[in-house]
Amino acid sequence: MALDPGNVVQNAIYLSGGTEWPIGYEAWEARARESLDRAPFDYVAGGAGAEETMRANLEAFRRRPLRPRMLVGTAERDLSVEVLGLRSPAPFFLAPVGVLSIVRDDAERAVARASTATGVPLILSSASSTALEDVAALDPPRWFQLYWWGDPELAENLVRRADAAGYGAIVLTVDTLTLAWRPRDLRNGYLPFLNGAGLAQFFADEAFRGRLESPPEESLLPASLMALSAFPNLALTWDDLARLREWTSLPVLLKGILRADDARRALDAGMDGIVVSNHGGRQVDGSIAALDALVEVRDAVGPDAVVLMDSGVRTGADVVKAVALGADAVLLGRPYVYGLAVGGQEGIEAVITQLAAEVDLTMALSGARAVAELDPSLVA
Ligand code: FNR
Repeated sequence: MALDPGNVVQNAIYLSGGTEWPIGYEAWEARARESLDRAPFDYVAGGAGAEETMRANLEAFRRRPLRPRMLVGTAERDLSVEVLGLRSPAPFFLAPVGVLSIVRDDAERAVARASTATGVPLILSSASSTALEDVAALDPPRWFQLYWWGDPELAENLVRRADAAGYGAIVLTVDTLTLAWRPRDLRNGYLPFLNGAGLAQFFADEAFRGRLESPPEESLLPASLMALSAFPNLALTWDDLARLREWTSLPVLLKGILRADDARRALDAGMDGIVVSNHGGRQVDGSIAALDALVEVRDAVGPDAVVLMDSGVRTGADVVKAVALGADAVLLGRPYVYGLAVGGQEGIEAVITQLAAEVDLTMALSGARAVAELDPSLVA
């Protein structure tokens, strides 16, 4: 399935007298809320603290209006991007989202099938509920997101496995060396990892299994507790990054950068790219909106460095604004998780199709024929 131009997508809906799928982020979220129990819904929808950063992420997009350019001649458009060898038919990838088995049984398999079908790449989470080898077997265009566990042997194994399974880059998430204070989950008394969700990479690791008295399939709680205790790693520093280079020759991006000085330091340390992100407001509440941080980071690293962005991307206009302000591509987070909740693989494909259509029409009507033509002058 190739991604159709926006007018083709909308005409198909009009000619059918509508669509079974929700249209628009709020509608997807509302339908997901109906499909899920309260605790898993809150786990996905919620954030850290008072959820100020979550709101700030959205508000930063509202604060920066587009300045569409007329009469450019946009009959032909090309939405595709290529970042460090990874191609996408639209300027977004699927963000790493863990524990998807709390949303739907087919979890990462549904994401991988949607990714293969649409050509929009995925970044598989370290905290996923499907072994990275099983996702790779479905052969989606893919990168791997690394949580650098506190346990060095298990961290190294994870990187080597991802490399061997054909993931094209390592996205090291640096903002989640431990989980933040998350009031919704605390109120619900809900930590999905305790039920074994999101721990498939541990459970597929031979060294980890060798430490257990009985395997996770027989005795889940002790295995889950052992994995959880291996997770936090607040001791990690810039000096450790050299070790990652010994484990793999894949490109490495740092995800969770919010400051110009950290961005420069990452590049000075030989990293291949940066993902400006505040984890969708799930980690440091009260922190800067990701879109504002993107402007600061792009300004600091210059035009050539690889900079991706996520946190708060909801609409076609949001994608266009983020790219115009310096992102080489953006990552889609909660929106595709709601697609999974509502309709599995097909739900994710519908979210992707709708978003790409909206990006296409926004570019067409704003005077951009290609992603490279999205520049800061398009945003006030
Ligand atoms: C995440 N995110 C995330 N990031 C990461 O690097 N590894 C992970 O395992 C997860 N897990 C995860 C679970 C859930 C339920 C959510 C909602 C998010 C963060 C994700 O990659 C991305 O940064 C955010 O989703 C972006 O924010 P929005 O746009 O979804 O609000």
